[in-house]
Amino acid sequence: MPRSSPGFECGPHDSSASASAVKQNSALVEIASARLNLRRFTPDDLAELCRLFSDPAVTRHYDVNLGSMAEVEEYARAWLDRRLRAYADHGHALWAAELKMGGAFVGAVGLTEQTVEGRADTEIGYHLKSEHWERGLATEAAIACRDYGFARLQRSRLISLIAPGNHPSMAVARRVGMSRERDVTWRGRAFVLFSMASPR
Ligand SMILES: CC(C)(COP(=O)(O)OP(=O)(O)OC[C@H]1O[C@@H](n2cnc3c(N)ncnc32)[C@H](O)[C@@H]1OP(=O)(O)O)[C@@H](O)C(=O)NCCC(=O)NCCS
Repeated sequence: MPRSSPGFECGPHDSSASASAVKQNSALVEIASARLNLRRFTPDDLAELCRLFSDPAVTRHYDVNLGSMAEVEEYARAWLDRRLRAYADHGHALWAAELKMGGAFVGAVGLTEQTVEGRADTEIGYHLKSEHWERGLATEAAIACRDYGFARLQRSRLISLIAPGNHPSMAVARRVGMSRERDVTWRGRAFVLFSMASPR
């Protein structure tokens, strides 16, 4: 069952700052779905990312051990830096998913360029705060990314790399239209590669 993230603060954050950030960030929106806007992350999102990654339910299948607030903040900063670099390099990466109604930060969903066993591919990734699980939001956002990947980026196929025990993530991949392709080793770890070809 979803759990609430533990209280966590890193970087500046208060609710009025969030409300104005929603207005300012509308220019950064890349994709909209029925309930969500997906927009580019900015350095102001560090506190939200710390809250996301401080929840052990969220990081359960990551290859990390974030035992202290300092470790969470270091991880979140490096994670954010990689996304900001990817926007500059590729024009896309994981985006911040926010509810259209109220602007709450839900998590990170988007498209990442990966190389898996020598082959370049584009991955749909999704990481939601646990209080937003089991509402269909990850699937909704991932489907919007799938459509963006095929229509806008003109990819011939899309993938998801999923840790072997991560059944909720596999269920999202299947609902998006992917199927299990094969087991792979990626960055020294075993993953299940899900994929789908462009319908065109
Ligand atoms: C992977 C992850 C995003 C999946 O979250 P999720 O809540 O299972 O997926 P969705 O948001 O698509 O919700 C689907 C569920 O909501 C239910 N649901 C409830 N209301 C719904 C609605 N209005 N519309 C659609 N589905 C709805 C669905 O029935 C489904 O439940 P089921 O699988 O028991 O049938 C989540 O587990 C997560 O963030 N994990 C941590 C990070 C991670 O591991 N990411 C993947 C890395 S590969």
